[in-house]
Amino acid sequence: MKSSSQPVHDLPVPPAPQSERDDKFDVRAFRNILGSFPTGVTVITTLAEDKSPVGLTANSFNSLSLDPPLILWSLNRNSPSLVCFEKCPNFAINILAQGQSDLSRRFATPMPEKFTGVDWRAGGDGVPVLGGCAAVLECTTVSMQEAGDHVLFIGRVDRFDGLSHAPLAFHAGKYRLLGDHIE
Ligand SMILES: Cc1cc2nc3c(=O)[nH]c(=O)nc-3n(C[C@H](O)[C@H](O)[C@H](O)COP(=O)(O)O)c2cc1C
Repeated sequence: MKSSSQPVHDLPVPPAPQSERDDKFDVRAFRNILGSFPTGVTVITTLAEDKSPVGLTANSFNSLSLDPPLILWSLNRNSPSLVCFEKCPNFAINILAQGQSDLSRRFATPMPEKFTGVDWRAGGDGVPVLGGCAAVLECTTVSMQEAGDHVLFIGRVDRFDGLSHAPLAFHAGKYRLLGDHIE
């Protein structure tokens, strides 16, 4: 994996304890535990080598650093999109609005023409920016690191826009609307 930011410490992933490597490690239960953490929903977009738009639904997005402005997300190593995110230096985080669960389902389904009929425009670096989102962050990849069955991407935020629509939420495998806030 290449890395264009310094310093990046590629620490080896330590081997799992024996108890977690044997058959007793319950992958389903582990997934459910991870799903108990509520998140937003994003569609992360980039360009293929032929400049066609590429994107997938991801909820691994998170904030990382304010100064410099950095964000992170992770992509399954088996994803056909991986090569595009490795080769294109830019990507956009499209934070979906509460009315965009259909868009989330669409971009979570492997298919060749994901962008057909979708409202999008080219952002500052040419990567697709979806219409009607809660927010958009346009980024430059500064680090890619293999981490287990995923690749961890860190991006520097070059431009951002939004906050006009309420975000879509995801919890325990279901799309949700945000509830009332607590004083
Ligand atoms: C709510 C939700 C969140 C997801 N988050 C991620 C993620 O963070 N990383 C990832 O690799 N796949 C994630 N996926 C699965 C991908 O969207 C799905 O595998 C998709 O088909 C990948 O696109 P591709 O096949 O065109 O590469 C998520 C799916 C859903 C429904």
